[in-house]
Amino acid sequence: MSQELTIALTKGRILEETLPLLAVAGIEPLEDMNKSRKLIFETNQPDVRLLLLRGADVTTYVQFGAADMGVSGKDMLMENGAEGLYEPLDLKIARCKLMTAAICNQPPVQGRLRVATKYVNIARQYYASRGQQADIIKLYGAMELAPIMALADEIVDIVDTGNTLRANGLEPREFIADISSRLIVNKASMKMKHVPIQRIIDAIESAVN
Ligand code: PRP
Ligand code: MG
Repeated sequence: MSQELTIALTKGRILEETLPLLAVAGIEPLEDMNKSRKLIFETNQPDVRLLLLRGADVTTYVQFGAADMGVSGKDMLMENGAEGLYEPLDLKIARCKLMTAAICNQPPVQGRLRVATKYVNIARQYYASRGQQADIIKLYGAMELAPIMALADEIVDIVDTGNTLRANGLEPREFIADISSRLIVNKASMKMKHVPIQRIIDAIESAVN
C-alpha cells in the first residue's frame, strides 16, 4: 500500500530552485505553481502533493505534521525553533547572510539600542549574547526604512546582494549567521513513512552534492 506524502514549499525564487531538486526525486507538479492561485497541487506521483505557503509558515505545517516534509530557510528555523522536526539536508539554495545594518557612517549608539526586525527571537538572543541592551521592534517587511525614519537605530535582516541596503543609505554591520534553505521532515512522519521519505532525501542529496 502506498503512503500519502505532503511537501510544504514557498513561492518565489526558492520555489524555482526547489522544483529541479524535487524533479530529480521524480516529483513534478502537474501545473505551473508560480502562475496558479491554488495552494495545493497534485504531482505526477498520485500519492505526493505539494503545498504553497508563506516562508514563515512552512516550519509550523511540518512541526504539527500537517505536512510531512518541507523546504524552509535556516532563518525561519532559527526564528521559529525546530522542535518536532528533523533537518536532514542543506539544499544550498537561496544562500544569504543574516546581518545587523545601520545608516552609513553613523557612530555606534551609547546605551540602549532600538532594533527593528521581523526576526524578533533571533535579535533578542543575538543582542543578549553580546550583553547589549536592546528594544526589539517587530516589523513584517521593508526593514531598511526603519533607521531612515528614526524608528530604530539598527535592523536585523537578510543580506544577499546588498543592493537594498545600498539603495537606502545603509551599511551591513555585524554578521549573525549564514542562511540557506533546508529540507525539513516531521519526526513522526520520518518514522511512519520512512521508506518514501528516505528515498526523496537520498535523491535530493545526490542532486545537491
Ligand atoms: C529581502 C530582505 C532584504 C533584501 C536582501 O527583502 O529582507 O531587504 O531582500 O536582498 P539584497 O541584499 O539582494 O538586496 P524582500 O525583498 O524579500 O522584502 P521584505 O523584506 O519587505 O519582505
Ligand atoms: Mg526586505
